[in-house]
Amino acid sequence: MRGRRRRQAITLRDLREAARRRLPRMVFDFVDGGAEDEFTVGENRRAFSDVAFRPRVLVDVSSRPQAVTVLGRRLEMPVILGPTGLARMVGRAGEAAAAVAAQRFGTVSVVSSGSSVSFEDVASSVAAPQWFQLYPWGDRATIRALIARARDCGFGAMVVTVDVPVVGAREKDLRNGLTVPPRVDLRTGWDVLSHPRWLAELVTGPKVTFANFTGLMPEQRTTSGLAAATAGLLNPGHTWADLEWMIAAWDGPVLLKGVMTAADARRAVDVGCQGVAVSNHGGRQADSLPAGLDALPEIVAEVGGEADVLLDGGVRRGGDVVKALSLGARACLVGRPWLYGLGAGGTAGVGRVLEILRDEIDRTLALIGRPGVGSLDASAIRVRPGRGWVDSPGD
Ligand code: FNR
Repeated sequence: MRGRRRRQAITLRDLREAARRRLPRMVFDFVDGGAEDEFTVGENRRAFSDVAFRPRVLVDVSSRPQAVTVLGRRLEMPVILGPTGLARMVGRAGEAAAAVAAQRFGTVSVVSSGSSVSFEDVASSVAAPQWFQLYPWGDRATIRALIARARDCGFGAMVVTVDVPVVGAREKDLRNGLTVPPRVDLRTGWDVLSHPRWLAELVTGPKVTFANFTGLMPEQRTTSGLAAATAGLLNPGHTWADLEWMIAAWDGPVLLKGVMTAADARRAVDVGCQGVAVSNHGGRQADSLPAGLDALPEIVAEVGGEADVLLDGGVRRGGDVVKALSLGARACLVGRPWLYGLGAGGTAGVGRVLEILRDEIDRTLALIGRPGVGSLDASAIRVRPGRGWVDSPGD
């Protein structure tokens, strides 16, 4: 607004609030919500509050490098913008905004195969190669074609998401009448019309749909929600043998996303994955899962010496990243935060997310006496006892 300086968001929480104001409720809930009772969503945040730092003083912290190497690629900060589909629903630049912001901060974004900006359009919006995420939707010919397109786009790594055999029950979306693309009808009318700026972007911009699957989805007019939009494409029959086939078809670095146990991480590495993302899909799939952070130690213990272990879910502060790295993660993925940034301020808003996280990581390292992320290990933290989970015997 002219004459009035827009207040700069100071935290990711500020960006979330700004996005809440700017987006229709059905869109904000789509981003912010989780499955069923959102127990898992809550656990992802709770877990970070059960880890505290163990600060050391009089350490020379005048230099605090953040660069890490993930899947052989140097990233200037240990945060990756994770795959989230349908980002154009939140802001017109959609998934391209993540790629542009990631490039600006020397990191990478993972383009969802459910993206609303096509692989090709995301790739051509930046010089740096991004990574892509594969939902193994459709038959093998469809998957092979998608992988071939990803290769032609120059994507540097494939992230295979395996925690969506069926779509989780995001009950807010059902209640709000969310459809793909969003529809203005009696149910959603007031919500949408009371956000005219968002509506103007929607009606003047490209149709919000799964850009990489045009023609493969059921006719949109009959679509009543996400589950219906993807019906017939999801394949709950996939097994490790299918993953091996996907790894061979891609023939490049692969990271398996959605791993929550040491046994599955071991298997992933044994079949040829170079990395795993410890993830419960941000609490959007199965409810009543532990936090990714709670599952991280057993997975690091199992495969940390051989593969890159990423932590996904609930990261809202640079300090959270420092905690995850202290527990052995190589880097963190963030999902909702970059969508909050997109909703709050477009591509610049996504950049602000990375800027805030980078500054918070930097400040935290100084304040706990760690001269860079390379110096982090379990001695940097203390864990509140008695809040863990006890497994029954077996894997
Ligand atoms: C997602 N996520 C996701 N994951 C994936 O592998 N492919 C996808 O297309 C999507 N789509 C998607 C859409 C939206 C709106 C959200 C919020 C999330 C999950 C995402 O990659 C990540 O696992 C979680 O978002 C991590 O939790 P936080 O960072 O949101 O707490």
